[in-house]
Amino acid sequence: MTSLAILEKETALKPTGAAGQTAPATGSVQVRDLEHTYDASGRTTKALEGIQLDIAPGRFVVIVGPSGCGKSSLLMMMTGLLRPSSGTILCGGRPMTEPDPDVVGVVFQEASLYPWLTAQDNVEFPLSLRRMPKAERAKRARDRLALVGLNGFEDRYPHELSGGMKQRVSIARGLVQDPPILMLDEPFAALDEQTRISMGDELLRIWERTGKTVIFVTHSLTEAAYLADEIIVMSARPGRIIDRIEVDLPRPRTYEMMSTPRFAELRERIWSQIRTQVVE
Ligand SMILES: Nc1ncnc2c1ncn2[C@@H]1O[C@H](COP(=O)(O)OP(=O)(O)O)[C@@H](O)[C@H]1O
Ligand SMILES: [Mg+2]
Repeated sequence: MTSLAILEKETALKPTGAAGQTAPATGSVQVRDLEHTYDASGRTTKALEGIQLDIAPGRFVVIVGPSGCGKSSLLMMMTGLLRPSSGTILCGGRPMTEPDPDVVGVVFQEASLYPWLTAQDNVEFPLSLRRMPKAERAKRARDRLALVGLNGFEDRYPHELSGGMKQRVSIARGLVQDPPILMLDEPFAALDEQTRISMGDELLRIWERTGKTVIFVTHSLTEAAYLADEIIVMSARPGRIIDRIEVDLPRPRTYEMMSTPRFAELRERIWSQIRTQVVE
């Protein structure tokens, strides 16, 4: 069986809640009345206000907004890494009061790999913390590296990998516990244009094959329109949701679509919202 087939099978076998209950679907995300104020040595910054969000399982949702509007803060809260000042966040019906890599996998802009570990060991690392037997975790990590197209690179150290390859390792690591949800914070922002586009295609391929819910933060309007089922547009700080745009471009997305009138219309609609917000 191919690694993709194994991953698909694991995903299909995941329980979706106790029998007879209408538990919120695995892979769903709900945010209610979320607000956040930072308090750094007496100086308060209201970062987010009145955020309500419902994301259905299997959707590819992109969050865009001006720099400093609270995108990273919102994502960190949805992953359970940061507690909001008020409001609730449910992923698959469970409150995200702490990180749970079985529920949400996370990828940041900087690959944040351990430089002294190989690609294989970086991906295995979260499993070793959970005391999974060595043979099983080695197999899982290899499967995930194959899923992101890194067959044959298992023994490379981060400094021996390109920027795009390092982000592939990060994605493999984010998926190693097979969470139903993957959240990414500007994962390709540090990459050159060509690598960025091909990494977008790669992520779409992984998403289409695995059926994960993907929540992707970017400040690139092109990336947003190219990747998303739905684009969430945020205001300047304090960040609020000011628009939700269904992207009706057919799938699979192709590079040629970027030069269609429909693509230009989508970018224009996002920009018309954000333009009024860029005042800093
Ligand atoms: N740890 C922190 N302490 C104080 N202020 C912060 C902290 N992290 C972020 N902020 C502020 O909160 C606002 C939102 O930040 P962030 O979520 O990083 O925005 P974005 O990702 O959209 O650029 C910014 O004004 C930022 O300066
Ligand atoms: Mg950010």
